[in-house]
Amino acid sequence: MSALRPLAELALEVLTTADGRAKTALSRRHAADWFAARRAGEVPTIGTANPPLRPARPDKPELLSPRDVPRRKPGTPEGRIAILHAVAHIELNAVDLHWDLIARFSHVPMPIGFFDDWVKAADEESKHFNLMCDCLEAQGSHYGAMAAHAGMWRAAEDTAEDLMARLAVVPMVLEARGLDVTPGMIKIFQNAKDSQAIEALETIYAEEVGHVAYGSKWFHFLCGRQDTDPKDLFHELVTRYFPSPLKPPFNDEKRAEAGIPLDFYWPLSETTPK
Ligand SMILES: [Fe+2]
Ligand SMILES: [Fe+2]
Repeated sequence: MSALRPLAELALEVLTTADGRAKTALSRRHAADWFAARRAGEVPTIGTANPPLRPARPDKPELLSPRDVPRRKPGTPEGRIAILHAVAHIELNAVDLHWDLIARFSHVPMPIGFFDDWVKAADEESKHFNLMCDCLEAQGSHYGAMAAHAGMWRAAEDTAEDLMARLAVVPMVLEARGLDVTPGMIKIFQNAKDSQAIEALETIYAEEVGHVAYGSKWFHFLCGRQDTDPKDLFHELVTRYFPSPLKPPFNDEKRAEAGIPLDFYWPLSETTPK
């Protein structure tokens, strides 16, 4: 068996692949190779990479500013397709976000478990994108059939220079927000008796807890390394790099499961706890 290529190189390959299904297929293959090498006791090399500021993406969907994306009416089949499409778009961004984190910060010395976690997260996001595409295709639509939000890569660009800011904003704020809103989405598909979408969203909901937990784990690890108070630094970084207030209601239970304490996010919200 040939030795695995440096992880940063594999990450770069995913980031520079434009087509969604091709990107996720490559992502899953690299993840499988990574974990096969780890199980075989190989010591994989991380290497370094110079990732593009923005990853390659397909020509469609057209990317619009959030206020120009048509509003969804969840009570209609078209509205539900729009939700699935929006989630597919989030998942494709998440695939790139995790590989970008690996490539962009490959020069920061981290324990091998850090890379295990983000490769696993990238693999799961790839599965999530494929699940959403399967749901869209089962309903006669596809990823790219409608417009999507343009602003999703903004957080990655804003935090390109700072690993701790990236961990605070991406997994601990944006992915944690996913935990808040997914149960409501599952309810919409329960009402529509769409078992394929329910099952897919339940898989996403269960696995996203892990991604938020990886963010919290490695944020705390780095705080320990530099002897910094995690809560104060989290507040400082989120205020600086994610200037809008966090939106309740929060899923306190799942956030706790993912290792995000109440006093991390409540002080950054637009209201105070009841
Ligand atoms: Fe996901
Ligand atoms: Fe995720």
